[in-house]
Amino acid sequence: MSTTNSNSQEPLKNVLVTGGAGYIGSHVIYTLLRTHKYKVISIDNYHNSFPAALTRVSELALTELKAASDSQPSTQDIDSTAIDVHECDLNAASAVRSIFSSYSSKGGIWGVIHIAAYKAVGESSEIPLTYYANNVAATISLLQTMQEFGCMRLIYSSSATVYGVPPDIPIKEETRREGDSVYGRTKVMCELIIQDFCDSVMNDSGKLEDFISSYFPPVFQPAGAHPSGYIGEHPRGRPENLLPLLAHMAVGTVTDPVLKVFGNDYPTPDGTCIRDYLHILDLAAGHVVALQALEEGSELNAKVFASSIQSQGRFKAYNLGKGHGMSVMQIVDAMRKATGHDYKTEVIGRRRGDVPELIADPALARAELGFDAPRDLETMCRDLWNWQVKNPTGYE
Ligand SMILES: NC(=O)c1ccc[n+]([C@@H]2O[C@H](COP(=O)([O-])OP(=O)(O)OC[C@H]3O[C@@H](n4cnc5c(N)ncnc54)[C@H](O)[C@@H]3O)[C@@H](O)[C@H]2O)c1
Repeated sequence: MSTTNSNSQEPLKNVLVTGGAGYIGSHVIYTLLRTHKYKVISIDNYHNSFPAALTRVSELALTELKAASDSQPSTQDIDSTAIDVHECDLNAASAVRSIFSSYSSKGGIWGVIHIAAYKAVGESSEIPLTYYANNVAATISLLQTMQEFGCMRLIYSSSATVYGVPPDIPIKEETRREGDSVYGRTKVMCELIIQDFCDSVMNDSGKLEDFISSYFPPVFQPAGAHPSGYIGEHPRGRPENLLPLLAHMAVGTVTDPVLKVFGNDYPTPDGTCIRDYLHILDLAAGHVVALQALEEGSELNAKVFASSIQSQGRFKAYNLGKGHGMSVMQIVDAMRKATGHDYKTEVIGRRRGDVPELIADPALARAELGFDAPRDLETMCRDLWNWQVKNPTGYE
């Protein structure tokens, strides 16, 4: 990427990312920083992440900017690689309001990418009220603050779990929402709340008040890390998801002698569950192009909203996935190749809430946003392993 050093740059737009230090958040912020169009503001309470992730993201973006510049980068470009970091709980409404308020004299917050949530399916059924408070109540509070400050552009990072047991594979966006776990229901509820909010934003004459533009990209299974190995996934506690668990087993930070496979009697070719894995940087790029499509007057904006019914608010859902899936056993094989670790597996009973297959139909995101997820499974495993080897204890 060659970076220009122009004096006539558009001012940076303030974009707030919630959950900015998390796995998806940190890679989304990195991708935002690389555009040099935004001043990124992160809100995170570090419940499942570390502030160091944000320091590293910023360092990486600055290093890449300098390496790509033909001359001394502009002050604004350098500024665009620095993140405004706020340690804050989204449920602390007055603290979030103060953050919004502090940008009022700096052009206000132009858009929000809302990623923060709790996401452990099993835990969600043990402490449902905590999940509803953290995922649903915090989203309502965020929307209220956005409305109060006239910030009407939102990308909401949803989850494939909203499709429950989908009637058809690949899954299209119009598939009814179900959510067959507490976690899943929190994501369904947030989608519905955002949709209702979009529908309601009318002025006295019955016209849409400016814009409330919103996307819910249902996220399929992100994997991998930045190829530098400088940023990656570091959940607090034992990793829940398959790929990070395998990486931790190979590096020795999880000492389980065998990988427990939850069921091999599903109606899939090898009997194990199939998921649509996509590289974390492809997923991050999908979030950023969705945000760019919220820029009124742009070609992308016209294309995306051409088909939406103006009187019903402006919201869209896009599947960000690859469109094909990998089984648990295929993932284990791919990680065996990437790490050289001789994984032993043991098949145990099915896990409650698991569905046989979750594969996206990303055709709409491709056609309207130009979304693509070109990185393959080998690349995901290689980048994940590179991150894990360089950072066996993550950001700690
Ligand atoms: N990683 C996946 O496999 C996956 C798949 C589908 C959907 N998703 C969705 O993507 C989102 C993020 O996933 P992730 O993998 O990056 O998770 P993550 O846990 O790494 O990131 C979430 C971040 O939000 C922060 N956070 C949570 N509650 C907060 C609160 N009340 N206030 C402030 N910060 C808070 C956490 O500290 C963390 O940094 C979630 O909404 C999840 O539902 C993730």
